[in-house]
Amino acid sequence: MNPPSEKPIPEARTISEARATPEARAIPEARAILEARDLRYSYPGADDVAALHNAHRLRALDGVSLALRPGARVALLGANGSGKSTLLLHLNGTLRPAGGAVLHEGAPIEYSKRGLIALRRRVALVFQDSDDQLFAGTLAQDVSFGPMNLGLPAGEIASRVAGSLAAVGLEKLGALPLHMLSHGQRKRAAIAGALAMRPRVLLLDEPTAGLDPEGVNGLLDQLDRLSAQGIAILFSTHHVELARMWADEAVIMSGGRILAHESGAMIFSNDALLQKARLRLAPCRRAPPPDTHA
Ligand SMILES: Nc1ncnc2c1ncn2[C@@H]1O[C@H](COP(=O)(O)OP(=O)(O)OP(=O)(O)O)[C@@H](O)[C@H]1O
Ligand SMILES: [Mg+2]
Repeated sequence: MNPPSEKPIPEARTISEARATPEARAIPEARAILEARDLRYSYPGADDVAALHNAHRLRALDGVSLALRPGARVALLGANGSGKSTLLLHLNGTLRPAGGAVLHEGAPIEYSKRGLIALRRRVALVFQDSDDQLFAGTLAQDVSFGPMNLGLPAGEIASRVAGSLAAVGLEKLGALPLHMLSHGQRKRAAIAGALAMRPRVLLLDEPTAGLDPEGVNGLLDQLDRLSAQGIAILFSTHHVELARMWADEAVIMSGGRILAHESGAMIFSNDALLQKARLRLAPCRRAPPPDTHA
């Protein structure tokens, strides 16, 4: 018998695979491009905090499995602290799991510098906090950073920077130093930086937080264009309506676990589930004003 550490990790299935016939499952397009298998993770110090409060061990991820197929449009929903950011940070190799594995195109990701650079060419993450992502200098310099690291020719870098800035509506601000951008503009800048990598998987951690409605519309249009090119997109949000509007699939997280991964139609009609995941506002308890014309 295998010792526990060598136990094979059960394969996560995409929704389409889960419902597909055995023949359809054999079609290569149905394979996951990125997969999390039974991820477990606790932040350093979590055990000390748990001991202090006589609480259970605090696991940020507690056995998370998720598969993304090429071209998938997936919303990741969950209350504050449910583990969304921690999962996304695992999916691009920023965090390394204590248990389980992340697979890219069927192979476990390599955590060497070289392996991570190769992964991030294909899997881009827009961080929740733009300040974790942006470096220094001007906006255009920042967006060019990733393509430059890929060793691309100058003409290609310039065209990617121009295209990515235009995609987020910042084409006129390329020469501005980053510290002169507003919060929402910095968010757009971080998204432009990810787009410039031309990834096959785009992970976005609360990309609409801080964007004005025009910014949200522009972002959703941009995501439409990317998914039409076959890019898999997973974005986290607290906004059920936004997720309903855009995503084909939804993943609900709670307490470091996945409560559900289903089609959007199944999830968004399930009020009990949304309430359990603390994603619904309390019903308004104020009585409507009396009808004085009655
Ligand atoms: N840097 C950190 N150090 C220690 N614990 C952390 C850290 N970041 C997150 N955690 C803990 O990990 C758990 C999951 O946090 P995570 O940030 O992944 O949640 P989230 O779903 O992204 O929340 P939010 O909606 O607030 O962004 C929480 O219990 C949190 O306290
Ligand atoms: Mg988060």
